[in-house]
Amino acid sequence: MSEVPLHIGLRGIYVAKSSLSYIDGAAGKLIYRGYAIEDLAEKASYEEVLYLLWFGKLPNKKELEDMKTFMAEEREIPEQVVEIISKLPKDTHPMDVLRTGVSALSGFDPDLPKIWGPKINEYKEENVRIGLRITSKMPTIVAYFYRMREGKELVHPRKDLSHAANFLYMMWGREPTELEGKIMDMALILHADHGANASTFNCMVTASTLSDLYSSVVSGISTLKGPWHGGANEAALRMLLEIGSPDRAREYVEEKLRRKERIMGFGHRVYKAYDPRARILKKYAEKLAKETGNENLFQTALEVEKVMVELLGGKGIFPNVDFYSGQVYHMLGIPTDLFTPIFAISRVAGWIGHVLEYWEENVLIRPRFVYTGPMHQEFVPLEVR
Ligand code: CMC
Repeated sequence: MSEVPLHIGLRGIYVAKSSLSYIDGAAGKLIYRGYAIEDLAEKASYEEVLYLLWFGKLPNKKELEDMKTFMAEEREIPEQVVEIISKLPKDTHPMDVLRTGVSALSGFDPDLPKIWGPKINEYKEENVRIGLRITSKMPTIVAYFYRMREGKELVHPRKDLSHAANFLYMMWGREPTELEGKIMDMALILHADHGANASTFNCMVTASTLSDLYSSVVSGISTLKGPWHGGANEAALRMLLEIGSPDRAREYVEEKLRRKERIMGFGHRVYKAYDPRARILKKYAEKLAKETGNENLFQTALEVEKVMVELLGGKGIFPNVDFYSGQVYHMLGIPTDLFTPIFAISRVAGWIGHVLEYWEENVLIRPRFVYTGPMHQEFVPLEVR
């Protein structure tokens, strides 16, 4: 076969135009629709950011209230889906539970049967409603499964709490403090969108066949699970706990690098500078470490960061969002295997936002392989093989 340019890993390849978010990898900057992530994290709510990503502008009070009311009404999940989740083994990874739960929800969406078909992308209002339903119900799936496996009564969603606070309330059975609610809200904002990352791209591949939003989100959850993507937050925290103390960090990191292994929570395809989301979360990790007696964990992280930047900073490898998000969740008392589901609960905003945008001018995503197998083989019947 003649030589064609290969784009393994699609490194540096632009596949579509998008106005949702922009990463300046060299400067370590991230914007959503022109707004700096630092401003949004401090000043906006997750719901405002969701609106911004999907509709291209910050909502006014009425637009925000209408969307929040719709979402609050949609938080509960059908009994049958509760039952499906309850039948899964208690040690099922919560990302698998979430994937199964979202998949099962598709059968109960009143809009889906009406619009299924080759024009699915043209039903804008229905697709926004479907998107909001998925977004509203994902935290409930995660919180319910968490309570089930703990052998605790389910705590049903409340309509008067924010998206972030309600999630913590359903998990803990108590209202979060103002600081806990603020940190979770901010974490959701920081993870809401990030350009053509693997899970978002996978959602778009699925949607480009004119499959529906549930199928797309299931694709996104499946892709986010891996430790080279969203699963890194869980892996990074487990690594810090394994290291155990700051004085063991250097030896641990050097040994791993000697064995050509990766340090989770470091490096990024686009950022070759410090990930701005990690910078924001690091500040909160420091604050929480003091308040929750997790100084040893935070100091261990600082030491890992110091050694990594010393050894690999020159190659553009710095902490990414997953390095500090895991610590923050851990200090909030959230179990480690729920970290990546929290990432998904947030990133669904970007997944759906990108699909809705891509559907405006949908083109089937269908690349090609450079064939390296044999040609012109003569078929040999089974009896003589
Ligand atoms: N630890 C050690 N070495 C690393 C790391 C790391 N975390 N990341 C990259 N490298 C090395 C890699 O071994 C390679 O070295 P060499 O040039 O000697 O072969 C070089 O840096 C370039 O790596 P790459 O694999 O070509 O870079 P990539 O753009 O394909 O990979 C990445 C990006 C995120 C998969 C990678 O940095 C990684 O595996 N990081 C650890 C997992 C992680 O933290 N993922 C979360 C990413 S951010 C949030 C998210 O998407 O969820």
